Amino acid sequence: MSDKSSSNAMWGGRFASGPDAIMEAINASIDFDKRMASQDIEASRAHAAMLAKQGIITNSDADAIREGLLTVLSEIEGGTFKYSRALEDIHMNVESRLKEIIGEPAGRLHTGRSRNDQVANDFKMWVRDQFDAAIQGIDALTAALLDQAEAGADMVMPGFTHLQVAQPVTWGHHMLAYVEMLARDKSRMIDARARMNECVLGAAALAGTSFPLDREMTAAALGFDRPSANSLDSVSDRDFALDFLSAASICATHLSRFAEELVIWSTVQFNFVILSDRFSTGSSIMPQKKNPDAAELIRAKVARINGSLVGLLTVMKGLPLAYSKDMQEDKEQVFDAADSLMLALAAMAGMVADMTPNKPVLEIAAATGFSTATDLADWLVRALNMPFRDAHHVTGALVKMAEDGGVDLPDLTLAQMQTECPEITEAVFEVLGVHNSVASRTSYGGTAPENVRKQIARWRKEIG
Ligand code: ARG
Repeated sequence: MSDKSSSNAMWGGRFASGPDAIMEAINASIDFDKRMASQDIEASRAHAAMLAKQGIITNSDADAIREGLLTVLSEIEGGTFKYSRALEDIHMNVESRLKEIIGEPAGRLHTGRSRNDQVANDFKMWVRDQFDAAIQGIDALTAALLDQAEAGADMVMPGFTHLQVAQPVTWGHHMLAYVEMLARDKSRMIDARARMNECVLGAAALAGTSFPLDREMTAAALGFDRPSANSLDSVSDRDFALDFLSAASICATHLSRFAEELVIWSTVQFNFVILSDRFSTGSSIMPQKKNPDAAELIRAKVARINGSLVGLLTVMKGLPLAYSKDMQEDKEQVFDAADSLMLALAAMAGMVADMTPNKPVLEIAAATGFSTATDLADWLVRALNMPFRDAHHVTGALVKMAEDGGVDLPDLTLAQMQTECPEITEAVFEVLGVHNSVASRTSYGGTAPENVRKQIARWRKEIG
């Protein structure tokens, strides 16, 4: 084997000189792919056990390899492992250290395997853990939202369209809207995780191998459902990472929308919600300030995640089969997106658990801006059998009358209302109150407190 200083220690045979320093800088991935160390070692241990069971290497070599790999893992976990850029990546770093520890048998580990299937498999295992972590994070946030929904099942607040007052809704219903979004996020993660759970090891460089591997065995040992069916596809597929990034982007989009609402709601002008000190920051110059920084950062994190999705899509487009080194650029994007998503989920869960809806302010706001105009129009239809379009017109005139008088709809007198429509009776005032308004919206999916309570019970059962 060639000298380490003049060529690569692992494949130096063909090379007369080592790489240029710039080549090493652009080529080495160890600075980031060391995050996959435990996956790399777990997969190598499974591969070695399978090689021995198939009689491709001896049991004693496999034992030495499997033991040695545990030593490497403990060095990595203990922080004593010396990473080398000259060894490019986590795969070569681990194997080289294994050789130092156990000697000759280490060289047999790479039988029937290539870094191409190795890296794809390690990365899959890493991403698979992120699906699980995201699902956990979503569950925790959902639980916090359900607590908020329960506490405010019949708390009224304005519902908006165009950020203009539309109709009163309940706080619980608003919280449950995000529960629905998160449930879809979770199901996307579950779908993608199931789709990607095929073991790549054994695809080797691109064409498979002539060694009699038992790919079922390796797959089972590593928690995969089955081995992947096409070696070319196996080493060139990064769909699992794209699936993760797209599910993460959509989830982060939901978090960002909610964060935007919290930013607006926590202003002095809205004052709908009080965020806890634990999830707010102060200003270095303005002593009165309490800023919703966590919400703002959650609102922004989606940018990085979307960026990663577009970044990896762009890396992958136009790559011929099978492996190309371009694909090494997959990891940092996914690492960063996963970190961002987990942090955003955790911060949102903390913020939601701690926040207090400002009930009296919400109640007043719910009744402001002629929010029960639709209830009035519906009453005219129901009580007077008026066609809805006519009812809409009469109600519009009454809203104008109230607006001109500087009052809200329930403040108009019956006599005033009767100038627009003589058939209106005292009973109309029933529907002009916001609590009656929300209580009446019992259609499936509507905002009525009784609906909200049913939905909370359903979600609690689902989440367990
Ligand atoms: N560090 C590489 C990556 O992340 C490992 C695979 C290298 N394969 C190769 N044929 N050079 O993709």
